[in-house]
Amino acid sequence: MSVPERAQAQAEIDRLRAAIRHHDHCYYVLDAPEISDAEYDILMRELQALEANWPDLITPDSPTQRVGGAPSPAFGSVTHPEPMLSLDNAFSAAEVEAFDRRVRERLGVDGPVTYCAEPKLDGLAVSLLYENGRLVRGATRGDGVSGEDVTANLRTLPSLPLRLAGGDWPAFLEVRGEVYMPRAGFLAMNQRLQEAGERVFANPRNAAAGSLRQLDARVTARRPLRWFAYGLGAGSNDPALPDTHFKRLGRLRGWGLPVCPLNRRVSGVAGLLAYHGEMQARRAELPFEIDGVVYKVDAVASQQHLGFVSRAPRWALAHKYAAEEAVTRVLAVAFQVGRTGAVTPVARLAPVAVGGVIVSNVSLHNFDEMRRKDVRIGDTVIVRRAGDVIPEVVRVVIEERPDDAAEVALPTQCPECGAAVVRPEGEAIARCSGQLACPAQRKEALRHFASRRAMDIDGLGDKLIEALVDSGRVHDPADLYGLGAPELAALPRMAEKSAANIVAAIARSRATTLPRFLYALGIREVGEATARTLAAHFGDLPPLMAADAEALQAVSDVGPVVSAHIAAFFREPHNREVIARLLAAGVHWPATSVPAPAKASPLQGKRVVLTGTLAGLTREQAKAEILARGGAVSESVSARTDYVVAGEAAGSKLDKARALGVTVLDEAAFLALLQPD
Ligand code: IVH
Repeated sequence: MSVPERAQAQAEIDRLRAAIRHHDHCYYVLDAPEISDAEYDILMRELQALEANWPDLITPDSPTQRVGGAPSPAFGSVTHPEPMLSLDNAFSAAEVEAFDRRVRERLGVDGPVTYCAEPKLDGLAVSLLYENGRLVRGATRGDGVSGEDVTANLRTLPSLPLRLAGGDWPAFLEVRGEVYMPRAGFLAMNQRLQEAGERVFANPRNAAAGSLRQLDARVTARRPLRWFAYGLGAGSNDPALPDTHFKRLGRLRGWGLPVCPLNRRVSGVAGLLAYHGEMQARRAELPFEIDGVVYKVDAVASQQHLGFVSRAPRWALAHKYAAEEAVTRVLAVAFQVGRTGAVTPVARLAPVAVGGVIVSNVSLHNFDEMRRKDVRIGDTVIVRRAGDVIPEVVRVVIEERPDDAAEVALPTQCPECGAAVVRPEGEAIARCSGQLACPAQRKEALRHFASRRAMDIDGLGDKLIEALVDSGRVHDPADLYGLGAPELAALPRMAEKSAANIVAAIARSRATTLPRFLYALGIREVGEATARTLAAHFGDLPPLMAADAEALQAVSDVGPVVSAHIAAFFREPHNREVIARLLAAGVHWPATSVPAPAKASPLQGKRVVLTGTLAGLTREQAKAEILARGGAVSESVSARTDYVVAGEAAGSKLDKARALGVTVLDEAAFLALLQPD
């Protein structure tokens, strides 16, 4: 290997070591991490990879040669009576199977091994020394060999007994456990800190560590810290102790030490994996954070037989949950155009595994949001995906921003059709003004039209819609009904049989319902529920198409915004033409039950405003009577109002009607109008 290469590796190794030391200091000493765990892991992995390639460059003081944090000089340093080990990690069922196989091989057993399965609490490990049942010292794990003496602080934890209950404890006993901060306490504490203008903690684990490592124990006392005991250190070979880990935990509980109630004895790999799955499902609702589960061979004799390798026991394994955060780079920002023309920035990422899936695209929601997060091309970003949640960019790692990181401008023209992109005053969303002339909007509109809850055209998927629009065969939903099987079969990758199936599905969709049809039109703000209400209210399409915004607002749950969208949609000549062609192509629905008025009523076509309380009928009943006679009910009085029906205690609407000279009807006059001649 050439010298320059080696020099380059050395320089990179130096840089990584310095960065890791800096972040160790921030994390362990200042309790103020500047980067996420995921980012830290990346630095560490890069260093490990370089050192693996250049083993002669490894030095004993490299961060890779040490586990855990250096003790802070602020606390006295203590040497643990027995080293505090760490655990091997597994991320997959295969790794758990391999662990179980190794255990059985070493123990020489065929059948399933009994394990104790426990949540892996996300806090910090502590060691507590009890002499003759009295707490004499408490320490952090530190680097595993020596830690910090935090006795004074640990004594403030209400759940930590200063004297053990009972009397059957070994004279010298080291209890090990995890100090953590429950989620609720963490949130409340952070809120208090924020209100006081103080620094908030990044997560419950940092908060627990920061709270335990306070120089003033009175501060620790005010922090909502808890802990669970999970094992024994020195003194664990006392012959009077039970012979299994699980029973020992029970004994600890008997001595007044808190033990996690979710610990359970399970059998074999199947038991381990079932426990892992169950805790994962319950993870979000647990009162504390866990980052995995821990499996321990239950029989103490078997643990002793298995022993240790370097820093971890062979009898235990941490089965971790997939990291919910990962670090990656923004390769580009594309703008996608949705059905309503919304132009959405989407970050194209170097693919990265987050929360168990590979993420390579993530929506930045809208232009303002992208600017607020200040995402630029070339940036390193933290991506998060918790549970089934859609992945999102949490933040940019500003320190990693390259000099040539490029800001992204909102396009002035639609990337799909070239029409102007407009952004109305005060709105976060920019839209393409091309409407259905825009192929992207056209494709989205067709996708929506064909979707299961709309016209339900089986087999008309995204790829086919792309091909149909791109080849110019389909411009709008009405064109679908003119497609023939040979035409479809001529498209790439389309078999004759499936072409025939799709033509049949399109034909079947002609028989629909009015709510489905209205929903399928893709009118802004008209979802399934509104489509149903509109259908029930108007009974058929022509009266709906004729209704103006005011008449539309008479429909329950239709406000000014929705009514304006509906009215605008039906005013648009292109939309009217597409609807006419759909009907001509045979799209139909059964008549609904709203009866047409038998006879012309004096209320036909009239705009009515109801105010005050009527004695004989409720406002809803009055409204229904007016609508059934072809009238419209609106909320506010204007010069275009025909009648104001004034009941008891009518207020300002009555005054306005008088001022505008609108006809005012009292209840009797109104009832008279409802009567047939
Ligand atoms: S047993 C030799 N049990 O995980 C076995 N550890 O990666 C030592 N942890 O430092 C650990 N919950 O801080 C054990 N139920 C549990 C645990 C647990 C959380 C932490 C502990 C330890 C780290 C090891």
